[in-house]
Amino acid sequence: MTQDELFKNLIAHTKEYGFIFPSSEIYDGLSAVYDYGQMGSELKNNIKKYWWEAMVRLHENIVGIDSAIFMHPKIWEASGHVGAFNDPLIDNKDSKKRYRADVLLEDYIAKLEEKIEKEVEKGRRKFGESFDEEQFRATNPNVQRNLAKLNSVKEKMVAALKSNDFTALRQLILDCDIVCPVSGTKNWTEIRQFNLMFSTQLGNTSDETGIIYLRPETAQGIFVNFLNVQKTGRMKLPFGIAQIGKAFRNEIVARQFIFRMREFEQMEMQFFVKPGTELEWFAKWKQIRLEWHKALGMGDEKYRYHDHDKLAHYANAATDIEFDFPFGFKELEGIHSRTNFDLGRHQEFSGKKLQYFDPELNESYVPYVIETSIGLDRTVLAVLSGAYKEEQLENGESRVVLKFHPALAPVKVAVLPLIKKDGLPELAQKVMDNLKYDFNCQYDEKDSIGKRYRRQDAIGTPLCVTVDHQSLEDNAVTLRDRDTMQQERVSIDALPEIVDKKVNIKYLLKKLS
Ligand code: GAP
Repeated sequence: MTQDELFKNLIAHTKEYGFIFPSSEIYDGLSAVYDYGQMGSELKNNIKKYWWEAMVRLHENIVGIDSAIFMHPKIWEASGHVGAFNDPLIDNKDSKKRYRADVLLEDYIAKLEEKIEKEVEKGRRKFGESFDEEQFRATNPNVQRNLAKLNSVKEKMVAALKSNDFTALRQLILDCDIVCPVSGTKNWTEIRQFNLMFSTQLGNTSDETGIIYLRPETAQGIFVNFLNVQKTGRMKLPFGIAQIGKAFRNEIVARQFIFRMREFEQMEMQFFVKPGTELEWFAKWKQIRLEWHKALGMGDEKYRYHDHDKLAHYANAATDIEFDFPFGFKELEGIHSRTNFDLGRHQEFSGKKLQYFDPELNESYVPYVIETSIGLDRTVLAVLSGAYKEEQLENGESRVVLKFHPALAPVKVAVLPLIKKDGLPELAQKVMDNLKYDFNCQYDEKDSIGKRYRRQDAIGTPLCVTVDHQSLEDNAVTLRDRDTMQQERVSIDALPEIVDKKVNIKYLLKKLS
Protein backbone atom coordinates (compact mmCIF):
# COMPACT_ATOMS: atom_id res chain seq x y z
CA MET A 1 0.00 0.00 0.00
CA THR A 2 1.33 3.45 -0.86
CA GLN A 3 1.75 6.16 1.79
CA ASP A 4 -1.00 8.09 0.02
CA GLU A 5 -3.48 5.22 0.40
CA LEU A 6 -2.45 4.70 4.00
CA PHE A 7 -3.05 8.39 4.72
CA LYS A 8 -6.51 8.23 3.12
CA ASN A 9 -7.34 5.18 5.25
CA LEU A 10 -6.14 6.99 8.36
CA ILE A 11 -8.35 10.02 7.63
CA ALA A 12 -11.37 7.77 7.07
CA HIS A 13 -10.58 5.86 10.27
CA THR A 14 -10.39 9.01 12.39
CA LYS A 15 -13.86 9.97 11.20
CA GLU A 16 -15.38 6.52 11.59
CA TYR A 17 -14.19 6.18 15.19
CA GLY A 18 -15.00 9.66 16.47
CA PHE A 19 -11.59 11.32 16.43
CA ILE A 20 -11.89 14.06 13.82
CA PHE A 21 -14.84 15.35 11.78
CA PRO A 22 -14.88 17.99 9.04
CA SER A 23 -16.37 21.15 10.55
CA SER A 24 -20.02 21.94 9.65
CA GLU A 25 -20.22 18.68 7.74
CA ILE A 26 -23.99 18.74 7.23
CA TYR A 27 -23.47 22.03 5.37
CA ASP A 28 -20.76 20.39 3.21
CA GLY A 29 -17.92 21.41 5.52
CA LEU A 30 -15.70 24.45 5.93
CA SER A 31 -12.32 24.22 4.27
CA ALA A 32 -9.35 23.62 6.61
CA VAL A 33 -11.50 23.68 9.75
CA TYR A 34 -12.07 20.50 11.75
CA ASP A 35 -13.93 19.35 14.85
CA TYR A 36 -12.60 16.86 17.35
CA GLY A 37 -15.03 14.12 18.33
CA GLN A 38 -15.35 12.13 21.51
CA MET A 39 -12.09 10.21 20.99
CA GLY A 40 -10.15 13.08 19.41
CA SER A 41 -10.88 15.41 22.32
CA GLU A 42 -9.58 12.86 24.83
CA LEU A 43 -6.45 12.31 22.76
CA LYS A 44 -5.90 16.05 22.43
CA ASN A 45 -6.39 16.59 26.17
CA ASN A 46 -3.85 13.87 26.95
CA ILE A 47 -1.28 15.45 24.62
CA LYS A 48 -1.92 18.85 26.21
CA LYS A 49 -1.43 17.31 29.64
CA TYR A 50 1.83 15.66 28.59
CA TRP A 51 3.16 18.97 27.25
CA TRP A 52 1.90 21.11 30.15
CA GLU A 53 3.22 18.83 32.86
CA ALA A 54 6.56 18.36 31.10
CA MET A 55 6.91 22.16 30.94
CA VAL A 56 5.23 23.54 34.03
CA ARG A 57 5.43 20.71 36.54
CA LEU A 58 8.86 19.36 35.74
CA HIS A 59 10.51 22.79 35.55
CA GLU A 60 10.34 24.82 38.72
CA ASN A 61 11.19 27.95 36.75
CA ILE A 62 8.36 27.64 34.19
CA VAL A 63 4.81 28.80 34.88
CA GLY A 64 1.71 28.65 32.70
CA ILE A 65 -0.82 31.31 31.71
CA ASP A 66 -3.99 31.57 29.64
CA SER A 67 -4.20 34.91 27.82
CA ALA A 68 -7.11 36.20 25.72
CA ILE A 69 -7.42 35.58 21.99
CA PHE A 70 -8.32 39.22 21.36
CA MET A 71 -5.54 41.68 22.05
CA HIS A 72 -4.87 45.35 21.46
CA PRO A 73 -4.35 45.85 17.70
CA LYS A 74 -1.06 47.68 18.30
CA ILE A 75 0.41 44.40 19.53
CA TRP A 76 0.32 43.06 15.98
CA GLU A 77 1.98 46.18 14.63
CA ALA A 78 4.74 45.85 17.22
CA SER A 79 5.22 42.13 16.54
CA GLY A 80 5.50 42.76 12.80
CA HIS A 81 2.43 40.73 11.89
CA VAL A 82 0.51 43.66 10.35
CA GLY A 83 3.41 44.54 8.08
CA ALA A 84 5.02 41.24 7.31
CA PHE A 85 2.83 38.21 8.10
CA ASN A 86 2.15 37.66 4.42
CA ASP A 87 2.07 34.95 1.80
CA PRO A 88 2.85 35.63 -1.89
CA LEU A 89 -0.32 34.74 -3.82
CA ILE A 90 -0.98 34.10 -7.47
CA ASP A 91 -4.33 33.42 -9.19
CA ASN A 92 -5.02 31.39 -12.28
CA LYS A 93 -7.25 33.53 -14.50
CA ASP A 94 -9.02 30.55 -16.06
CA SER A 95 -9.87 28.44 -13.02
CA LYS A 96 -10.04 31.48 -10.66
CA LYS A 97 -8.12 29.33 -8.16
CA ARG A 98 -5.64 30.99 -5.83
CA TYR A 99 -2.25 29.52 -4.92
CA ARG A 100 0.77 30.36 -2.85
CA ALA A 101 3.50 31.09 -5.38
CA ASP A 102 6.21 29.49 -3.22
CA VAL A 103 4.09 26.35 -2.76
CA LEU A 104 3.62 25.95 -6.53
CA LEU A 105 7.41 25.99 -6.83
CA GLU A 106 7.91 23.70 -3.83
CA ASP A 107 5.53 21.17 -5.43
CA TYR A 108 7.54 21.42 -8.64
CA ILE A 109 10.76 20.76 -6.68
CA ALA A 110 9.10 17.79 -4.94
CA LYS A 111 8.21 16.32 -8.36
CA LEU A 112 11.85 16.60 -9.45
CA GLU A 113 12.89 14.86 -6.22
CA GLU A 114 10.40 12.11 -6.97
CA LYS A 115 11.81 11.67 -10.48
CA ILE A 116 15.32 11.33 -9.04
CA GLU A 117 14.20 8.71 -6.51
CA LYS A 118 12.38 6.73 -9.24
CA GLU A 119 15.54 6.73 -11.37
CA VAL A 120 17.58 5.47 -8.39
CA GLU A 121 14.99 2.75 -7.76
CA LYS A 122 15.22 1.70 -11.42
CA GLY A 123 19.00 1.47 -11.09
CA ARG A 124 18.69 -0.58 -7.91
CA ARG A 125 16.42 -3.08 -9.66
CA LYS A 126 18.65 -3.24 -12.74
CA PHE A 127 21.98 -3.75 -10.97
CA GLY A 128 20.77 -5.81 -8.01
CA GLU A 129 23.39 -6.67 -5.39
CA SER A 130 26.20 -4.82 -7.17
CA PHE A 131 24.30 -1.50 -7.05
CA ASP A 132 26.42 1.39 -5.77
CA GLU A 133 23.88 4.11 -4.95
CA GLU A 134 26.39 6.87 -4.30
CA GLN A 135 28.15 6.33 -7.59
CA PHE A 136 24.84 6.01 -9.45
CA ARG A 137 23.59 9.34 -8.07
CA ALA A 138 26.88 11.01 -8.99
CA THR A 139 27.05 9.71 -12.57
CA ASN A 140 23.58 8.91 -13.94
CA PRO A 141 22.76 11.62 -16.53
CA ASN A 142 19.01 11.74 -15.73
CA VAL A 143 19.67 12.08 -12.01
CA GLN A 144 22.31 14.71 -12.63
CA ARG A 145 20.09 16.72 -14.99
CA ASN A 146 17.13 16.74 -12.58
CA LEU A 147 19.38 17.55 -9.63
CA ALA A 148 20.88 20.52 -11.43
CA LYS A 149 17.40 21.77 -12.36
CA LEU A 150 16.18 21.28 -8.79
CA ASN A 151 19.10 23.17 -7.26
CA SER A 152 18.78 26.02 -9.70
CA VAL A 153 15.00 26.44 -9.08
CA LYS A 154 15.53 26.24 -5.32
CA GLU A 155 18.27 28.86 -5.41
CA LYS A 156 16.26 31.26 -7.57
CA MET A 157 13.14 30.80 -5.42
CA VAL A 158 14.97 31.51 -2.14
CA ALA A 159 16.65 34.59 -3.66
CA ALA A 160 13.33 35.96 -5.00
CA LEU A 161 11.55 35.36 -1.68
CA LYS A 162 14.37 36.89 0.32
CA SER A 163 14.34 40.08 -1.74
CA ASN A 164 10.52 40.14 -2.15
CA ASP A 165 11.11 40.15 -5.91
CA PHE A 166 7.71 38.95 -7.10
CA THR A 167 8.44 39.63 -10.77
CA ALA A 168 11.31 37.14 -10.57
CA LEU A 169 9.17 34.69 -8.61
CA ARG A 170 6.41 34.83 -11.26
CA GLN A 171 8.95 34.47 -14.07
CA LEU A 172 10.33 31.35 -12.37
CA ILE A 173 6.82 29.83 -12.32
CA LEU A 174 6.52 30.56 -16.06
CA ASP A 175 10.03 29.26 -16.81
CA CYS A 176 9.24 25.99 -15.02
CA ASP A 177 6.08 25.63 -17.14
CA ILE A 178 3.96 25.25 -14.01
CA VAL A 179 0.29 24.95 -14.88
CA CYS A 180 -2.80 25.31 -12.68
CA PRO A 181 -3.79 21.80 -11.52
CA VAL A 182 -7.47 22.68 -12.18
CA SER A 183 -7.49 24.50 -15.55
CA GLY A 184 -4.18 23.12 -16.85
CA THR A 185 -3.20 26.59 -18.13
CA LYS A 186 -0.34 29.02 -17.45
CA ASN A 187 -2.63 32.04 -17.45
CA TRP A 188 -1.30 33.52 -14.18
CA THR A 189 -1.96 36.91 -12.58
CA GLU A 190 0.76 39.02 -10.99
CA ILE A 191 1.86 37.95 -7.50
CA ARG A 192 0.46 39.91 -4.53
CA GLN A 193 1.10 39.83 -0.80
CA PHE A 194 -1.79 38.56 1.31
CA ASN A 195 -1.92 39.05 5.09
CA LEU A 196 -2.76 35.88 6.98
CA MET A 197 -4.48 37.48 9.97
CA PHE A 198 -8.25 37.31 10.36
CA SER A 199 -9.77 40.59 11.44
CA THR A 200 -13.05 41.46 13.05
CA GLN A 201 -14.81 44.42 14.62
CA LEU A 202 -14.72 45.29 18.29
CA GLY A 203 -17.95 46.26 20.04
CA ASN A 204 -20.07 49.05 18.60
CA THR A 205 -17.51 50.74 16.36
CA SER A 206 -18.06 50.45 12.63
CA ASP A 207 -15.00 52.24 11.25
CA GLU A 208 -11.39 51.14 10.85
CA THR A 209 -10.54 52.08 14.44
CA GLY A 210 -12.52 49.15 15.78
CA ILE A 211 -10.60 46.50 13.83
CA ILE A 212 -9.00 43.80 15.91
CA TYR A 213 -7.35 40.55 14.95
CA LEU A 214 -7.78 36.94 15.92
CA ARG A 215 -4.30 36.12 17.23
CA PRO A 216 -2.13 34.26 14.69
CA GLU A 217 0.11 32.91 17.48
CA THR A 218 -0.23 32.61 21.25
CA ALA A 219 3.29 33.93 21.91
CA GLN A 220 2.40 37.63 21.98
CA GLY A 221 0.04 37.04 24.92
CA ILE A 222 3.10 35.80 26.80
CA PHE A 223 5.34 38.73 25.83
CA VAL A 224 2.86 41.38 26.88
CA ASN A 225 2.38 39.64 30.24
CA PHE A 226 6.09 39.22 30.84
CA LEU A 227 6.30 41.79 33.64
CA ASN A 228 2.97 40.81 35.23
CA VAL A 229 4.17 37.23 35.62
CA GLN A 230 7.73 38.11 36.56
CA LYS A 231 6.62 40.50 39.30
CA THR A 232 3.66 38.58 40.74
CA GLY A 233 5.50 35.26 40.55
CA ARG A 234 8.77 36.79 41.83
CA MET A 235 10.48 35.01 38.95
CA LYS A 236 14.23 35.18 38.52
CA LEU A 237 16.00 34.83 35.18
CA PRO A 238 16.19 32.36 33.52
CA PHE A 239 12.48 31.52 33.63
CA GLY A 240 9.74 30.47 31.23
CA ILE A 241 6.08 31.19 30.58
CA ALA A 242 4.02 28.49 28.87
CA GLN A 243 0.64 28.69 27.22
CA ILE A 244 -1.75 26.47 25.26
CA GLY A 245 -4.40 28.12 23.12
CA LYS A 246 -6.12 28.71 19.83
CA ALA A 247 -4.50 30.59 16.97
CA PHE A 248 -5.99 31.61 13.62
CA ARG A 249 -4.44 32.02 10.20
CA ASN A 250 -6.18 32.60 6.90
CA GLU A 251 -4.07 29.94 5.20
CA ILE A 252 -4.37 29.91 1.43
CA VAL A 253 -2.95 26.49 0.89
CA ALA A 254 -4.92 24.48 3.36
CA ARG A 255 -4.43 20.78 2.83
CA GLN A 256 -3.06 17.58 4.31
CA PHE A 257 -5.93 17.23 6.74
CA ILE A 258 -5.19 18.78 10.14
CA PHE A 259 -1.60 19.63 9.19
CA ARG A 260 -2.46 23.14 8.01
CA MET A 261 -5.66 24.55 9.46
CA ARG A 262 -7.26 27.98 9.65
CA GLU A 263 -8.15 27.53 13.33
CA PHE A 264 -5.66 25.52 15.34
CA GLU A 265 -4.01 25.21 18.72
CA GLN A 266 -0.45 25.99 19.71
CA MET A 267 1.57 25.03 22.78
CA GLU A 268 4.20 27.71 23.19
CA MET A 269 6.82 28.49 25.78
CA GLN A 270 8.96 31.62 25.96
CA PHE A 271 12.11 31.19 28.00
CA PHE A 272 13.59 34.50 29.18
CA VAL A 273 17.37 34.54 29.60
CA LYS A 274 20.27 36.88 30.25
CA PRO A 275 21.62 38.39 27.00
CA GLY A 276 24.66 36.47 25.84
CA THR A 277 23.47 33.13 27.24
CA GLU A 278 20.76 32.59 24.62
CA LEU A 279 22.64 30.25 22.28
CA GLU A 280 23.51 27.95 25.15
CA TRP A 281 19.81 27.83 26.13
CA PHE A 282 18.80 27.37 22.51
CA ALA A 283 20.97 24.23 22.32
CA LYS A 284 19.49 22.95 25.60
CA TRP A 285 15.89 23.48 24.49
CA LYS A 286 16.56 21.80 21.16
CA GLN A 287 17.63 18.72 23.04
CA ILE A 288 14.86 18.85 25.69
CA ARG A 289 12.14 19.15 23.09
CA LEU A 290 13.42 16.31 20.91
CA GLU A 291 13.61 14.09 23.97
CA TRP A 292 9.95 14.94 24.75
CA HIS A 293 8.90 13.74 21.29
CA LYS A 294 11.04 10.61 21.31
CA ALA A 295 9.69 9.49 24.71
CA LEU A 296 6.38 8.74 22.97
CA GLY A 297 8.07 5.69 21.49
CA MET A 298 7.06 6.13 17.84
CA GLY A 299 10.65 5.55 16.69
CA ASP A 300 13.63 7.92 16.90
CA GLU A 301 14.04 7.78 13.12
CA LYS A 302 10.71 9.57 12.73
CA TYR A 303 12.23 12.87 13.87
CA ARG A 304 14.94 15.14 12.55
CA TYR A 305 16.12 18.69 13.04
CA HIS A 306 15.98 21.17 10.23
CA ASP A 307 18.24 24.09 11.08
CA HIS A 308 17.25 27.29 9.29
CA ASP A 309 19.83 28.81 6.94
CA LYS A 310 17.62 31.80 6.29
CA LEU A 311 16.92 33.48 9.64
CA ALA A 312 14.21 36.04 10.34
CA HIS A 313 15.83 39.43 10.99
CA TYR A 314 15.15 39.20 14.75
CA ALA A 315 16.42 35.62 15.26
CA ASN A 316 19.99 34.51 15.83
CA ALA A 317 19.27 30.77 15.63
CA ALA A 318 16.27 28.68 14.59
CA THR A 319 15.48 25.05 14.01
CA ASP A 320 12.41 22.92 13.27
CA ILE A 321 11.77 19.50 14.67
CA GLU A 322 10.37 17.64 11.68
CA PHE A 323 8.25 14.51 11.82
CA ASP A 324 7.99 11.84 9.15
CA PHE A 325 4.28 12.30 8.32
CA PRO A 326 2.66 10.03 5.69
CA PHE A 327 3.40 12.82 3.20
CA GLY A 328 7.08 13.14 4.19
CA PHE A 329 9.18 15.00 6.76
CA LYS A 330 7.47 18.26 7.73
CA GLU A 331 7.68 20.81 10.56
CA LEU A 332 6.07 19.77 13.81
CA GLU A 333 7.70 22.25 16.18
CA GLY A 334 9.80 25.38 15.87
CA ILE A 335 12.56 26.39 18.29
CA HIS A 336 13.76 29.95 17.88
CA SER A 337 16.26 32.21 19.55
CA ARG A 338 14.31 35.48 19.15
CA THR A 339 16.82 37.83 20.82
CA ASN A 340 15.15 40.78 22.61
CA PHE A 341 13.10 41.64 19.53
CA ASP A 342 9.56 41.11 20.83
CA LEU A 343 10.00 42.63 24.28
CA GLY A 344 12.00 45.49 22.76
CA ARG A 345 9.27 46.23 20.21
CA HIS A 346 6.49 46.13 22.82
CA GLN A 347 8.54 48.46 24.99
CA GLU A 348 8.86 50.83 22.05
CA PHE A 349 5.20 50.66 20.91
CA SER A 350 3.59 50.77 24.37
CA GLY A 351 5.99 53.25 25.90
CA LYS A 352 6.19 51.00 29.00
CA LYS A 353 9.45 49.53 30.26
CA LEU A 354 9.67 45.76 29.86
CA GLN A 355 12.93 45.16 31.67
CA TYR A 356 14.31 42.85 34.26
CA PHE A 357 16.36 44.08 37.19
CA ASP A 358 19.29 41.71 37.56
CA PRO A 359 20.33 41.74 41.23
CA GLU A 360 23.68 40.10 40.45
CA LEU A 361 24.69 42.75 37.91
CA ASN A 362 22.75 45.49 39.69
CA GLU A 363 21.33 46.64 36.33
CA SER A 364 18.16 46.41 34.25
CA TYR A 365 17.92 45.01 30.74
CA VAL A 366 15.46 43.55 28.23
CA PRO A 367 15.87 39.76 28.44
CA TYR A 368 16.54 37.56 25.43
CA VAL A 369 14.06 34.83 24.54
CA ILE A 370 14.17 31.23 23.42
CA GLU A 371 10.81 30.10 22.08
CA THR A 372 9.54 26.56 21.69
CA SER A 373 6.36 26.46 19.60
CA ILE A 374 4.51 23.27 18.75
CA GLY A 375 1.21 22.78 16.97
CA LEU A 376 -1.19 20.69 19.02
CA ASP A 377 -3.17 19.53 15.99
CA ARG A 378 0.02 18.62 14.16
CA THR A 379 1.04 16.57 17.20
CA VAL A 380 -2.36 14.84 17.10
CA LEU A 381 -1.68 14.02 13.44
CA ALA A 382 1.85 12.81 14.21
CA VAL A 383 0.58 10.61 17.05
CA LEU A 384 -2.28 9.22 14.95
CA SER A 385 -0.07 8.47 11.95
CA GLY A 386 2.59 6.88 14.17
CA ALA A 387 -0.03 4.76 15.92
CA TYR A 388 -2.12 3.64 12.92
CA LYS A 389 -1.40 0.05 11.92
CA GLU A 390 -3.21 -2.29 9.56
CA GLU A 391 -2.19 -5.75 10.73
CA GLN A 392 -2.55 -9.19 9.23
CA LEU A 393 -3.04 -11.70 12.05
CA GLU A 394 -1.82 -15.31 12.25
CA ASN A 395 -5.37 -16.67 12.12
CA GLY A 396 -5.88 -15.02 8.72
CA GLU A 397 -7.96 -12.14 10.07
CA SER A 398 -6.88 -8.53 9.92
CA ARG A 399 -7.24 -5.66 12.33
CA VAL A 400 -6.75 -1.92 12.42
CA VAL A 401 -5.13 -0.89 15.66
CA LEU A 402 -4.00 2.46 17.05
CA LYS A 403 -0.85 1.71 19.00
CA PHE A 404 -0.77 4.95 20.98
CA HIS A 405 1.51 5.38 23.91
CA PRO A 406 -0.88 4.16 26.67
CA ALA A 407 -0.66 7.52 28.47
CA LEU A 408 -2.13 9.23 25.38
CA ALA A 409 -4.82 6.65 24.60
CA PRO A 410 -8.33 8.20 24.83
CA VAL A 411 -9.80 5.18 26.63
CA LYS A 412 -7.51 3.34 29.03
CA VAL A 413 -9.56 0.25 29.87
CA ALA A 414 -12.58 -1.44 28.32
CA VAL A 415 -14.69 -3.53 30.67
CA LEU A 416 -16.51 -6.31 28.84
CA PRO A 417 -18.92 -8.88 30.34
CA LEU A 418 -18.61 -12.06 28.26
CA ILE A 419 -22.40 -12.30 27.95
CA LYS A 420 -25.29 -10.04 28.90
CA LYS A 421 -26.73 -12.24 31.65
CA ASP A 422 -25.99 -14.52 34.62
CA GLY A 423 -24.82 -11.60 36.77
CA LEU A 424 -21.82 -10.84 34.52
CA PRO A 425 -22.96 -7.26 33.63
CA GLU A 426 -23.43 -6.51 37.33
CA LEU A 427 -19.92 -7.69 38.23
CA ALA A 428 -18.48 -5.85 35.19
CA GLN A 429 -20.22 -2.69 36.37
CA LYS A 430 -18.59 -3.11 39.78
CA VAL A 431 -15.17 -3.47 38.12
CA MET A 432 -15.91 -0.37 36.10
CA ASP A 433 -16.98 1.61 39.20
CA ASN A 434 -13.73 0.66 40.88
CA LEU A 435 -11.63 1.96 37.99
CA LYS A 436 -13.55 4.91 36.57
CA TYR A 437 -12.42 7.54 39.09
CA ASP A 438 -8.80 7.04 38.08
CA PHE A 439 -9.02 6.03 34.43
CA ASN A 440 -11.20 6.76 31.43
CA CYS A 441 -13.06 3.44 31.02
CA GLN A 442 -15.57 2.18 28.50
CA TYR A 443 -18.22 -0.43 29.20
CA ASP A 444 -19.35 -2.54 26.24
CA GLU A 445 -21.65 -5.55 26.23
CA LYS A 446 -22.83 -5.55 22.58
CA ASP A 447 -21.70 -8.13 19.97
CA SER A 448 -19.23 -10.99 20.23
CA ILE A 449 -16.13 -10.55 22.38
CA GLY A 450 -13.97 -10.67 19.23
CA LYS A 451 -15.86 -7.76 17.67
CA ARG A 452 -15.58 -5.80 20.90
CA TYR A 453 -11.80 -6.35 21.01
CA ARG A 454 -11.55 -5.05 17.44
CA ARG A 455 -13.56 -1.94 18.34
CA GLN A 456 -11.21 -1.23 21.23
CA ASP A 457 -8.13 -1.85 19.03
CA ALA A 458 -9.54 0.66 16.55
CA ILE A 459 -9.62 3.41 19.18
CA GLY A 460 -6.33 2.34 20.72
CA THR A 461 -7.49 1.12 24.16
CA PRO A 462 -4.38 -0.42 25.80
CA LEU A 463 -6.24 -2.90 28.05
CA CYS A 464 -9.47 -4.92 27.86
CA VAL A 465 -10.91 -6.60 30.93
CA THR A 466 -13.28 -9.50 30.27
CA VAL A 467 -15.61 -10.68 33.02
CA ASP A 468 -16.74 -14.32 32.60
CA HIS A 469 -18.58 -16.96 34.63
CA GLN A 470 -15.42 -18.00 36.40
CA SER A 471 -15.00 -14.41 37.61
CA LEU A 472 -18.06 -14.89 39.82
CA GLU A 473 -16.24 -17.69 41.60
CA ASP A 474 -12.55 -16.68 41.66
CA ASN A 475 -12.88 -12.85 41.63
CA ALA A 476 -10.49 -12.78 38.66
CA VAL A 477 -10.80 -11.48 35.08
CA THR A 478 -9.05 -11.87 31.73
CA LEU A 479 -6.79 -8.97 30.90
CA ARG A 480 -5.96 -8.50 27.20
CA ASP A 481 -3.08 -6.40 25.96
CA ARG A 482 -3.80 -4.31 22.82
CA ASP A 483 -0.35 -4.66 21.24
CA THR A 484 0.55 -8.29 21.94
CA MET A 485 -3.09 -9.50 22.15
CA GLN A 486 -1.83 -11.75 24.98
CA GLN A 487 -4.36 -12.59 27.65
CA GLU A 488 -3.71 -13.30 31.31
CA ARG A 489 -5.84 -14.01 34.32
CA VAL A 490 -5.57 -11.38 37.05
CA SER A 491 -7.37 -10.73 40.31
CA ILE A 492 -9.98 -7.97 40.25
CA ASP A 493 -8.36 -6.45 43.34
CA ALA A 494 -5.02 -6.14 41.53
CA LEU A 495 -6.53 -4.31 38.52
CA PRO A 496 -6.14 -0.67 39.66
CA GLU A 497 -2.42 -1.13 40.23
CA ILE A 498 -1.84 -3.03 36.97
CA VAL A 499 -3.73 -0.43 34.93
CA ASP A 500 -1.97 2.42 36.68
CA LYS A 501 1.48 1.00 35.85
CA LYS A 502 0.50 0.73 32.22
CA VAL A 503 -1.25 4.05 31.57
CA ASN A 504 -0.30 6.63 34.19
CA ILE A 505 1.29 9.64 32.51
CA LYS A 506 3.78 9.94 35.37
CA TYR A 507 5.78 7.00 33.96
CA LEU A 508 6.03 8.78 30.63
CA LEU A 509 7.09 12.01 32.36
CA LYS A 510 9.68 10.10 34.38
CA LYS A 511 11.42 9.12 31.13
CA LEU A 512 12.33 12.76 30.59
CA SER A 513 15.61 13.61 32.25
N1 GAP B 1 5.28 31.81 17.74
C1 GAP B 1 5.98 31.18 16.69
C2 GAP B 1 5.11 30.57 15.69
O1 GAP B 1 3.92 30.71 15.68
P1 GAP B 1 5.20 29.01 13.56
O2 GAP B 1 6.35 28.22 13.00
O3 GAP B 1 4.47 29.91 12.64
O4 GAP B 1 5.81 29.82 14.78
C3 GAP B 1 4.55 27.18 15.27
O5 GAP B 1 4.16 28.04 14.24
C4 GAP B 1 3.89 25.83 15.13
O6 GAP B 1 2.47 26.00 15.03
C5 GAP B 1 4.28 25.07 13.87
O7 GAP B 1 5.46 24.33 14.07
C6 GAP B 1 3.08 24.17 13.65
O8 GAP B 1 3.20 23.00 14.43
C7 GAP B 1 1.93 24.99 14.19
N2 GAP B 1 1.18 25.63 13.08
C8 GAP B 1 1.49 26.76 12.42
N3 GAP B 1 0.57 27.04 11.48
C9 GAP B 1 -0.35 26.06 11.54
C10 GAP B 1 -1.56 25.77 10.83
N4 GAP B 1 -2.02 26.58 9.89
N5 GAP B 1 -2.26 24.65 11.17
C11 GAP B 1 -1.81 23.84 12.14
N6 GAP B 1 -0.69 24.06 12.85
C12 GAP B 1 0.04 25.15 12.56
